[in-house]
Amino acid sequence: MGQVIAVVSGKGGTGKTSFCAGVAVALCALGEKVLLIDADSGLRSLDLVLGMSDRVLFSYGDVIDGASSLKEAAVKHPIVKNLRLLTAPGTQETGMGYNEWQIAALLDRARAHFTYILVDCPAGFGSEVMRFARHADRAVVVSTPDHTALRGAQRMGVQLCAAGMDRLRIAVNRVRAGMIDKGGAVNIDAAMDQAGMALLGVIPEDRDVIACGNLGRVLVLFSSGYARVAYANIARRLRGSRVRLLEGVRLKK
Ligand SMILES: Nc1ncnc2c1ncn2[C@@H]1O[C@H](COP(=O)(O)OP(=O)(O)OP(=O)(O)O)[C@@H](O)[C@H]1O
Ligand SMILES: [Mg+2]
Repeated sequence: MGQVIAVVSGKGGTGKTSFCAGVAVALCALGEKVLLIDADSGLRSLDLVLGMSDRVLFSYGDVIDGASSLKEAAVKHPIVKNLRLLTAPGTQETGMGYNEWQIAALLDRARAHFTYILVDCPAGFGSEVMRFARHADRAVVVSTPDHTALRGAQRMGVQLCAAGMDRLRIAVNRVRAGMIDKGGAVNIDAAMDQAGMALLGVIPEDRDVIACGNLGRVLVLFSSGYARVAYANIARRLRGSRVRLLEGVRLKK
């Protein structure tokens, strides 16, 4: 049975979609069969970041409605073997139309075919997020190292705990050592304290994430930067390996 991981945040733009794409590719490189679900109806973006917008025809809504099979709707990545994308319905109204039990059944079907299912959620704790998060096996809250995003992460954690989620970790994204040293960013220990969550990983600021996201390129194939290494470390940790926090990663000054 596969494991469903809801990737969430309090504040928007913290790096959830980039995290999903980076970690999914890293999991595939470790031999896992991965399904990415875009749960951001209306504002879906994983297809763009993965360079797959011309391939997606059916959404998770079509699978629930029976208009498409999961196999047909979950389209293969053009380069990364074992990676598939199931996109969100095109409008928010459509996405809102599915109830919690339909989402739970969709995730169960996905568990039967994939070893990891990463759900790229919209920001905040709206009903679309909670419908997915309540039926996930674990959740990762992605935050940047600033007080606004960390407060959002803490609030998100409280909501998820109240919904019964007990496997909850934070990933701190866009970290720059220089900013922490100069007090312009919160240090990692303080970030964990403020968010009230254990740490899954740290991802450095890396302009290759922006460039690859804009060009729809796979980070691991087109970058020698440290974000790529950080996503790989996180993938190994998700699989239960013990990996040092910044193994192979240097934070820019
Ligand atoms: N580690 C990083 N280094 C540099 N830029 C990054 C990093 N992570 C994400 N970004 C950039 O930050 C922006 C927002 O990232 P992304 O779209 O992944 O966030 P999001 O949390 O999914 O946003 P939303 O809440 O709108 O769905 C993008 O331009 C992305 O390229
Ligand atoms: Mg996103």
